[in-house]
Amino acid sequence: MKKRILVTGGTGFIGSHTTVELQQAGYDVVIVDNLSNSNADVVDGIEAITGIRPIFEKVDCTDMPALRGVFEKYEGIQGIIHFAASKAVGESVQKPLDYYFNNTVSTINLLRLMPEFGVKGFIFSSSCTVYGQPDPENLPVTENAPRKKAESPYGNTKKIDEDIITDFCNSGAPVNAILLRYFNPIGAHPSALIGELPNGVPNNLIPYITQTAMGIRECLSVFGNDYDTPDGSCIRDFIYVVDLAKAHVAAMERILEGKNEERVEVFNVGTGKGVSVLELINTFEKCTGVKLNYKITGRRMGDIEKVWGNVDKANNVLGWRAVHSLEDSLSSAWKWQQRLRERGVM
Ligand code: UFG
Repeated sequence: MKKRILVTGGTGFIGSHTTVELQQAGYDVVIVDNLSNSNADVVDGIEAITGIRPIFEKVDCTDMPALRGVFEKYEGIQGIIHFAASKAVGESVQKPLDYYFNNTVSTINLLRLMPEFGVKGFIFSSSCTVYGQPDPENLPVTENAPRKKAESPYGNTKKIDEDIITDFCNSGAPVNAILLRYFNPIGAHPSALIGELPNGVPNNLIPYITQTAMGIRECLSVFGNDYDTPDGSCIRDFIYVVDLAKAHVAAMERILEGKNEERVEVFNVGTGKGVSVLELINTFEKCTGVKLNYKITGRRMGDIEKVWGNVDKANNVLGWRAVHSLEDSLSSAWKWQQRLRERGVM
């Protein structure tokens, strides 16, 4: 019997790539998603890649009766990977209550249902945002670095959710959890059948770059070149989304096989390498052959100057590492953007 996993937010960017990797590793996947920031036809893309159609239920995780219904309908769920969350930093400043409500109530509802339905493992989408701007001596940042005051309500929900999960697991509840702190996920599946599809004007760098390269946006703004970095632009740890997806499979296996050493374990998921925004633009131009229209503008409020991860723990303990190059990731993002154009999506 295949082990059954519930993936919340499974039609989203990271959720869809993780569903593919779970299916390819032999898991049976049930997706729940409220489609607030994704489309049901992502399920077709997943099926086209793996040959297996995941179960899909349009359910909002803040709706407890509907969520309970999913556990009743699909018996034997052994693990949960919880992606479903609101994630726009700027919007979270405008609508803090929506963010606090959605991101914490979803998590609490899922945790509440776990003992009742005998679900043992919980993998949580956390973020390097919990580190804020690490002190210089803490770069690359390890899991033991202090968590800083969050820069936004969104970031704060990640911290609060980490605490809720930790307190629950430590209360003696029959639940084990792994918190995965992602750095900056980029790229798309090599098939270009699934990828990142933000609503409206993208906030994140890569979709803004590919849309500018496609002529959908006129010009990319590089937010600041006066930071204390070698070329003055911000530094991030850009991780290929398929590598990131595989980290979830490794984490789920670890929990379901009882290999975790603590009730709650934390892993950074990144490449371990910092790349500046300007370096990334150069690499994009080189590997796609497309010249990018960009200009340097002022800093964006709330941006972290530089952060990249120490990923030794994930490499050594989880037995996972990022294997794809930045060139692979950026080429895949461009291929996906071109596919969207062919499909007439944008
Ligand atoms: N950037 C630009 N121009 C743009 C967009 C981004 O120069 O049009 C720059 C930003 O200033 C930043 C870098 O590109 O220096 C990366 O920006 P993103 O918005 O792509 O990513 P962030 O690192 O700001 O934020 C991401 C996620 C957050 C998450 C955070 C830390 O979007 O949800 O990583 O995990 F909280």
